[in-house]
Amino acid sequence: MVQPTTLGEFIVENQKDFPFATGDLSHLLTSIRLAAKVVNREINKAGLADILGAMGKDNVQGEAQQKLDVMANDTFMRALRSMGQCCGVASEEEEHYISFDDEIHQDAKYVVLMDPLDGSSNIDVNVSVGTIFSIYRRITPEGTPVTLEDFLQPGDAQVAAGYVVYGSSTMLVYTTGNGVNGFTLDPSIGVFCLSHPDMQIPKSGKIYSVNEGNYVHFPKGVKEYIKYCQQYDAASGRPYTSRYIGSLVSDFHRNLIKGGVYLYPTGTMAPNGKLRLLYECNPLAFIVEQAGGTATNGKQRILELEPSELHERVPFFIGSPEMVDMAHAFLRRYEEE
Ligand code: AHG
Ligand code: MN
Ligand code: MN
Repeated sequence: MVQPTTLGEFIVENQKDFPFATGDLSHLLTSIRLAAKVVNREINKAGLADILGAMGKDNVQGEAQQKLDVMANDTFMRALRSMGQCCGVASEEEEHYISFDDEIHQDAKYVVLMDPLDGSSNIDVNVSVGTIFSIYRRITPEGTPVTLEDFLQPGDAQVAAGYVVYGSSTMLVYTTGNGVNGFTLDPSIGVFCLSHPDMQIPKSGKIYSVNEGNYVHFPKGVKEYIKYCQQYDAASGRPYTSRYIGSLVSDFHRNLIKGGVYLYPTGTMAPNGKLRLLYECNPLAFIVEQAGGTATNGKQRILELEPSELHERVPFFIGSPEMVDMAHAFLRRYEEE
């Protein structure tokens, strides 16, 4: 039997793609993959243990924090802190960034930004959830405490980004800027194995993903684009199929594989959209571009945006390039209305 490449082997083999690589990024990815396995184990038994439901308090975004949000946050935080490559973490679940100032982090050059558990409102009903992470090289000098500046970098400066989807099988998908690769967890041996090498998003697809409950609040261009998706046109395969899980990672993962477009636009209920630039949009934008797709805020590439605060939200259009282009054409046409 041919042995599949494991994630551990793949990380080591690909270290040579980075000139002067010291192995620090490889170690960092190793901490993330270990934490992902721990979170996977806890999520798998969520219905058995007393870990479902709300913590009884809100996070910094005013959203109900789930017990598993806290567990995932603590697990990734601990894994990153236990190794010496990361000098600070910003998390969707923490109001401020966390600086790792002890001895072992003196030479650390990377910061990590993460959404430890994405789609957490779906946990109680056993629907797929995820983790999203993004890695940058620090800007401030090594050996000094990290500052906000280290975290507020444009997405184009990412060194690596990825996500884990805890689904019918658990997968870790990541990029270091040399394409996108997906690994499926073999639960019998507890190892992520390369199952989706060199992932490419189809140029176009037949799926649109948007929370249509917000329809009346959307800008005119988005409403018209949604109508276009629903209109019959045999030549372009319309009407498209509407698919929306409400877990960004899962919605994105499906569209990455099958081709499709995901929209979370502005609306009066969410004047800047809902999704967070640093923890959700930048990492997925890096991945989609590496897979041949597009991600924008409706006007500009997500990866070019200059962040102004940790928990900043932006409108998000991501997916197959021809579909995002068409959505843009509608946005431009109705810009004035
Ligand atoms: P999180 O659970 O990390 O707060 O993220 C929730 C996000 C995202 O996963 C999902 O796509 C989106 O919220 C769904 O929002 P709506 O319920 O407004 O559609
Ligand atoms: Mn999220
Ligand atoms: Mn989250």
